[in-house]
Amino acid sequence: MSAVIRGLGTAVPDRVVTNAELAATLDTTDEWVRTRTGIAERRIAEVGTATADLAVEAGAEALKAAGEQADAVVIATSTPDRSLPGVGPEVAARLGLGTVNAFDVNAACTGFVYGLAVAAGLIAGDIADRVLLVGAETMSRITDFSDRSTAVLFGDGAGAVLLSRGAEGDQGAVGPFDLGSDGDASDLLCVPAGGSRRPADPDAIAARDTFLQMDGREVYRQAVRRMVASSQKVLDRAGLTVADVDRLVGHQANARILDAVADRLGVAPERRFVNVARYGNTSAASIPLALADADLEPGEQVLLTAFGAGMTWGSTVVRWPSLPPG
Ligand code: UT7
Repeated sequence: MSAVIRGLGTAVPDRVVTNAELAATLDTTDEWVRTRTGIAERRIAEVGTATADLAVEAGAEALKAAGEQADAVVIATSTPDRSLPGVGPEVAARLGLGTVNAFDVNAACTGFVYGLAVAAGLIAGDIADRVLLVGAETMSRITDFSDRSTAVLFGDGAGAVLLSRGAEGDQGAVGPFDLGSDGDASDLLCVPAGGSRRPADPDAIAARDTFLQMDGREVYRQAVRRMVASSQKVLDRAGLTVADVDRLVGHQANARILDAVADRLGVAPERRFVNVARYGNTSAASIPLALADADLEPGEQVLLTAFGAGMTWGSTVVRWPSLPPG
């Protein structure tokens, strides 16, 4: 028994913000951002648009594509509309799913891979038959647009899949998984204030500590190391080798990180998928947005791997299914 992907949907804000637009107010250049990250532009939600709005749009598209309803909703996000409650119940209600089991998973940029594992567990445990998993973020709300080291990196968006029960080995079956974390390194990438450790008081706001801060160089180093090791582990668990991987779809934070991971694993350039140029780093939304863009062929063996704040990392494999359009 397995959890099988039946439908896919996405939503991104209309507003495109180019590197040149950011360079108008920041000490940066289009050339720096493209060469260091591969990012050309990102989408930014208009004031008043929240994570749940993007999640509802992507979720509705995934349900429509699958032609099914869901009896559980899992939202992978680290930018919920409010710090309490999570957005899962609101998204379920707005999608007309009534009083189903609905909650959020916060594993930062690894959230979608963790969410797939949670969805698979809900199905395996007979807790739900059909799970709507949405990776949805409004990273712009925790981005300090006066800090050039992070302002150029992030974007907003959402991507969703509907999973339901199938047989092991079915096209679209997700798993096995490798998931991990290193809490000793949690300060490397965090929003220092606005939680229970340090509330968002006037001092924290003045110090801009309610925005995301990152030691980019160290996160880069760890991201490569962890995604390579995690990918190798999950391939071993699946009884696959790198030669079996038709497409590597990694978390889209930086094209250089994805290339370094693929080089170390030995995945040929034409088997890597990178769309960070269009959206920047959309955290938990990046993998489903990439899956939607990658023009995957049914039957292709896809390796998913991600790394993010926590630190967290995770990988899984899926033989791509034939999906109806959203
Ligand atoms: O999604 C979760 C995981 N997040 C990530 O995976 C992000 C990981 N980190 C990265 O992608 C990269 O480390 C960055 C893109 C953030 C930075 O690239 P880098 O090649 O590691 O650059 P750096 O941090 O070593 O900075 C090099 C220089 C510095 O100047 P000095 O100290 O050499 O004079 C920075 O101040 O580039 C400077 N710099 C910039 N210059 C122009 C940093 N940001 C910018 C900028 N424009 N936007």
